[in-house]
Amino acid sequence: MTHTKLVFDPFSREFFDGPYDIYARMREEAPVYYSEEYDFYALSRYEDVAPAYRDFETYSSARGLDLATVRKGEISSFKSIIVLDPPEHRHMRRLVSKVFTPRAINDLRDMVDAQIVRYLDRVDPTGFDMVQDFSAYFPMEIISEMLGVPMEYRTQLRLWTDVSLHREIGQIEMSEAGTDAVVEAMRFYYGLVKERRANPQDDMISKLIEAEIERDDDQPPTLTTMEIAMFASLLGGAGAETVAKLVGGAPVTFARFPEQWAKLRDDHSLIPDAVEELLRFESPNQYNVRYSMHDVELHGVTIPAGKPVFLMLGSANRDPAAFDEPDVFDIERDRGGRPSLAFGLGIHSCLGAALARMESALALGHLLDFMPEFEVDFDNCTRVSMQNVAGYESVPVRVRARQQ
Ligand code: HEM
Repeated sequence: MTHTKLVFDPFSREFFDGPYDIYARMREEAPVYYSEEYDFYALSRYEDVAPAYRDFETYSSARGLDLATVRKGEISSFKSIIVLDPPEHRHMRRLVSKVFTPRAINDLRDMVDAQIVRYLDRVDPTGFDMVQDFSAYFPMEIISEMLGVPMEYRTQLRLWTDVSLHREIGQIEMSEAGTDAVVEAMRFYYGLVKERRANPQDDMISKLIEAEIERDDDQPPTLTTMEIAMFASLLGGAGAETVAKLVGGAPVTFARFPEQWAKLRDDHSLIPDAVEELLRFESPNQYNVRYSMHDVELHGVTIPAGKPVFLMLGSANRDPAAFDEPDVFDIERDRGGRPSLAFGLGIHSCLGAALARMESALALGHLLDFMPEFEVDFDNCTRVSMQNVAGYESVPVRVRARQQ
C-alpha cells in the first residue's frame, strides 16, 4: 500500500516518460481525479471514459481539447471539426466524410506504400533512429500527398505542427512560437484552397471544395475556404503525429516483448491484430479534454459545470476491468470484448482510423522484412513532451544479422 500523495500532472516529466503507474493509482484511488494545481477533473476507468466520449451533451468539445483552451471556457473561434458540438459537428462531419469513404482510402494504398518504402529505403540498417529517420516523415508526406500540398512546403508544415504541439515541462499554454506556427500553417492552407478553387486538381482539397450536402436549414451546403483550410491543418496534427508515434514506438514495445515480433515475423496475417494491440498498449493520443456542461455526480464526487475534464483513454485501454492482463502486450489477445478507445468513441471518433490502420499495417509489414531481428538502444530513447499526443521522439535501432 503506497501512502505518497497521488499526483497526476499532464505537463510533468513523470507523465511524459510513462504514465501507467499513475493511471493504475488513479483508477484505484481516485476514479474522478481532481487536480488542485490546475483545477481540472480526470476520468481514468474504462467504464467512465467510454460513456463520456459518447456523451457530448455533458462533455462538450466546443471549447477545445487541451487544458489551455478548455479552461478559458470560450467557444472556440476555430471552427475545426474536432472542436464542434452538434448540430454544427454533424453538418461538418457529413461533408468531410464525403472524401473519407472506404473506397477513397483504399485507393490511396499504392501511394501510402510507396511513401513508406521511399523513407525506409533511405535508412541505414547498421544504426538509425526509427522516429527521426523514418516515422516522423512518411505520415506527413501521405497527408500532404492526399491533400495536394506541393513538395517544397511539406517539411515546413511538419515543423510547424511539431512546434505547435510541443510543451516544455510545466508549460500549459501554447508558446508564442507555437501560435505563430499555427497562424503560418493556416495562412498557407488558406492560400492553397484559394488556389485550388481557381485550378481544381485531383486531390482532397479540390474534392472538399466540391463536396456538397442537402440541408434542411438555411446553412450553406458546402464548405468555406476557411473551413477547408482548418480541416487540412487539423490533419497535420491529428493524422500525422499520431501515426508517427504509433510506428515510431513499435520497436520499443516489440523489443520488450520479443516473442511477439517473432510470432509476427512467422505469420504476417497477424499484422492487423498487432496494429490494434499497439494502439491499445501505447495509445498515441492519451487523452482529450472536454468541458462539463452541467454538474456530474460520479463515484461520490461532483464535477461542477464549466470545468475541464480529461478523458484518459490511455488509462482506459490499460484498465484490468476491461482487458485481461492489460499490461501484457499480446498481439493474439481476444478482441471479442471491449473495443480499445485509441480512436475515441462517439461522434468525434477518428475519421482517419481506416487510413491510420492501413499506414501502420503497411509500415509494419515492411519493417518485418527490413529488420527481422533488431535491437533498441533503450538508454537513448527519449519521449516527446506534447499535449494530447504521447510517444517517442527518438528510438535508436540497429538491425541484427539473422541467427539461423
Ligand atoms: C494512430 C493514428 C491515430 C490515432 C491514435 C487517432 C486518434 C484519434 C482520436 C482519439 C480522435 C477523437 C478525438 C476526440 O474525441 O476529441 C480522433 C479524431 C480525429 N482524427 Fe484521428 N487518429 C489517428 C490518425 C488519424 C488520421 C491518419 C487522420 C486523417 C488523415 C485522422 C483524422 C482525425 C479527424 C479529422 C478527427 C476528428 C473527427 C471529428 O471530430 O469528428 N486521424 N483521432
